[in-house]
Amino acid sequence: MPSVATTSEIPLLPSASKPLPLTTSTQGLQSIADKHITKGLGRLRDHVFKEGKGVRVLTTENEKLLDFTSGIGVTSLGHAHPDVTAAIVAQAQSIIHVQCAIGLSEPYVQLVESLLTMMPDPSLDSFFFWNSGSEAIEAAIKVTRTKTKRNNIVVMQGGYHGRTSGAAALTRSKTSFFKGTGPLMPCVYTTSFPYWHAMGLPKDTPEEVLVEQAILGIENLLQQQTAPEDTAAIFLEPVIGEGGYVPTPPAYIKHLRQLCDKHGIMLVVDEIQTGFCRTGKTFAIEHSGVKPDLMVFAKGFANGMPISGIVTRSEIMSAMQPGSLGGTYSGNVVACAAALATTRYMRTHDILGHVNARSEQIFKGLREIQADTENGGWMIEEVRGQGLMIAMEFKDPNSKLTRNHSRGDISLPGNLNKLVQDACYDRGLLVLTTSIYPVLRLIPALILSEDEVDEMLSVMKEAIREVAKGVEGK
Ligand SMILES: Cc1ncc(COP(=O)(O)O)c(C=O)c1O
Repeated sequence: MPSVATTSEIPLLPSASKPLPLTTSTQGLQSIADKHITKGLGRLRDHVFKEGKGVRVLTTENEKLLDFTSGIGVTSLGHAHPDVTAAIVAQAQSIIHVQCAIGLSEPYVQLVESLLTMMPDPSLDSFFFWNSGSEAIEAAIKVTRTKTKRNNIVVMQGGYHGRTSGAAALTRSKTSFFKGTGPLMPCVYTTSFPYWHAMGLPKDTPEEVLVEQAILGIENLLQQQTAPEDTAAIFLEPVIGEGGYVPTPPAYIKHLRQLCDKHGIMLVVDEIQTGFCRTGKTFAIEHSGVKPDLMVFAKGFANGMPISGIVTRSEIMSAMQPGSLGGTYSGNVVACAAALATTRYMRTHDILGHVNARSEQIFKGLREIQADTENGGWMIEEVRGQGLMIAMEFKDPNSKLTRNHSRGDISLPGNLNKLVQDACYDRGLLVLTTSIYPVLRLIPALILSEDEVDEMLSVMKEAIREVAKGVEGK
């Protein structure tokens, strides 16, 4: 290949003789962020990350943190996994941008080849890649409406599908994602999700009863609000993520499948957070044995590079006219190379066995903490989740369902999850909250070791004990 123009052909400006005046101090960086980065971004803290390896991150102030966030389920093989880094470097040295409407690239096509072997059902055989999860949701809306020639979309109470206009219209986990920006896309209908707290039912309500209630809800919805003949799709997260880490009961998913089959509605499964081994199966929908009509994925399959996608049956995708899907960066070739390396690792290692073993270890440890009522366990209402998507819901004075406790008349704060999150942070453990309920979630890299889980559990135990002491006024 001929080389590009050299600096001798493009004259230097005087500014080239001095280093660019860029800030490096932590305080300086924080001050620029404070003044010049939108307040529309929520941020846990203003720490500045410098390095990440595996499940550890290092800040510019040399704080070493154990990362149980994986950047919200993205760095599934851990920060800077050598196989993925090598693939990114090699690809960046070859070609960085191949515009998808101009031509194909080897990593893009090979990624399709690799993904075909991982699908929950061989009928899912036609792909489109985009950059973010929200964009892939936009594509899913477009495909379902085009194929069915219907407008209406049904979503779950508590569901989260993103922040772009169409995706935000489908989001039901928190109003903060779209407050004040309406009107959003119309024709979206909300049905109840089988989660005891959202349904206003006690925690020990049997799953069959929750499912019965949810089924009643959607049957009514299809008779009273959106006729099946007008309904293009039902969107579902197999584990509701931003809604509180609640796995969808398989019986409910099976019922949705039957409804969709009966009425020609498309079942769209959003695996953006749950996909690629996160829940102990390659895709979380496999826990139910149900075949989706269309699946949306992102996050964990490129270990940090921005790429998302949808997959459906060729017969459905063939409804799309050339040019109806696309985007300047759609399926970026470096991101495809990273995804290829990540999926190659997943296909050549017993990652599912490992995820299930670590999941069991975390559930056991958290349930022991919960059972230790003398050291704060009484504050935990429920430990739940699937695979390495695990949450604790704490007691809440504002909820009649969770405010009762065994500690006499002490007054409960409404933010136990945040207090525990802060206490974890003070001990070097990074964890996230989620949902409108006091929920703390753990979503670590899939490759974390047994020792790293033990380390997290011992920090969590101490953090909960300390918060309980404060609440109990000891
Ligand atoms: C289930 C689900 N859908 C959609 C999205 C939106 O993805 P993105 O933030 O990449 O736009 C997310 C992000 O957290 C998600 O968890």
